[in-house]
Order: sequence, then C-alpha cells, then structure tokens
Amino acid sequence: MSPVFVEALLDGRRLEAATLIGAALPDAWPDAHDERFLHRRLGQMRRDPELQPWLARALVLREAGAVVGHAGFHGPPGVNGPAQPDAVEVGYTVFPPHRGKGLATEAVRALIAWARERGVHRLYASVGPGNEPSLAIVRKLGFVQTGEQWDEEDGRELVFELALD
Ligand SMILES: CC(C)(COP(=O)(O)OP(=O)(O)OC[C@H]1O[C@@H](n2cnc3c(N)ncnc32)[C@H](O)[C@@H]1OP(=O)(O)O)[C@@H](O)C(=O)NCCC(=O)NCCS
Repeated sequence: MSPVFVEALLDGRRLEAATLIGAALPDAWPDAHDERFLHRRLGQMRRDPELQPWLARALVLREAGAVVGHAGFHGPPGVNGPAQPDAVEVGYTVFPPHRGKGLATEAVRALIAWARERGVHRLYASVGPGNEPSLAIVRKLGFVQTGEQWDEEDGRELVFELALD
C-alpha cells in the first residue's frame, strides 16, 4: 500500500483510493484500530519512502475484486518485537466475511517466501494468547514460541520465531 493510497484512504477519498489499489474497499475499513495502524505505516513511509516494500500489502481477492485484508512486515530487517537485526516481523488481518478460507495462511506463506528471497534469516510473529486462528496459522507454518512480550496496544503476546536457514 503506497503512501498516496494510504493518504487517500485515511482522508476518506475512497473512490480515489479504490482506483489507486484497483479493487473495491469494504465499507467498514478502516476501523479505528486499522486507522491507527495505517497512520503508523504512513509515518514510516513518509520518513523513508524506501521502506514501502517492507510494510503493509493489501490482500485483494481477484474473484471478488475487493480488498479482503492486509498483510506485511513491521519494517525492514531489525524492526521486530525482540529487536533482532537480521529478522522481520509479520502482521496480518483478514476481514471477518472472508475468514476461515485459508487466506491469511496463503498471505503469510507468500510473505515468508518474499523475505527468504531477500536474504532474511528469521521471522517473528507476535500473537495474543487467546487468538486461536492466528496461533493455528503460525504453528502450521512452523513457527515456534520463543518468548513473550507486552504490547502497548494489544497487551500480552506470545512471540513466535521461524528460522529460515
Ligand atoms: C487471524 C486471522 C488473520 C486469520 O485469518 P483467516 O484467513 O481466517 O485464517 P486461515 O483461514 O488462513 O487460518 C485460520 C486457521 O485457524 C483455525 N481456527 C479458526 N478458529 C479457530 C479456533 N477457535 N480454534 C482453533 N483453531 C481455529 C482454522 O481451522 C485455520 O487452521 P487450518 O487451516 O489448519 O484449519 C483473522 O482471524 C484476523 O484477521 N483476525 C484479526 C486480526 C488478527 O488477529 N491478526 C493476527 C495478529 S497476530
């Protein structure tokens, strides 16, 4: 998601945003949580436009011609909860009507492959202890729990790691 797209979305210029991304936008997006998330990512891209490939992608379901969620990294290698220099952290959301069809799993698999191609050695995922669908995804993809952390917004999180070597 480019800065121009995110700015249009946050400004409520929805037709322009939909044209820029080439897909319909769900009426409920962004909610307050995603507004804060998108502002954070926009700030990162404004400070350093070269970060864009390391940030959030929109998930577009071709058959629906619509944005069904988003997925990406928290930033380039080094930007992750445990602050490990060679690692990235994944994040993902699938909007409620499209859950339970394997879309998040497919998106995270694609992120892992993308990171591997760019020489990343380790990925992290921080998951709330009660977030059963997300726990199922990271475990299925081979992440192992290596710790815990406290997130200002989301509270207690289990930290999962996937070594790519
Ligand atoms: C987590 C989230 C991205 C999952 O999206 P999704 O597209 O429905 O995920 P998938 O269909 O790829 O996989 C979900 C898995 O959870 C499993 N699952 C769903 N509900 C479950 C439950 N209550 N208990 C155990 N497993 C559950 C599914 O069976 C599936 O596993 P499987 O493929 O092995 O059967 C989505 O629920 C979401 O956006 N939640 C809010 C944001 C969020 O929590 N993001 C993750 C932050 S770490």
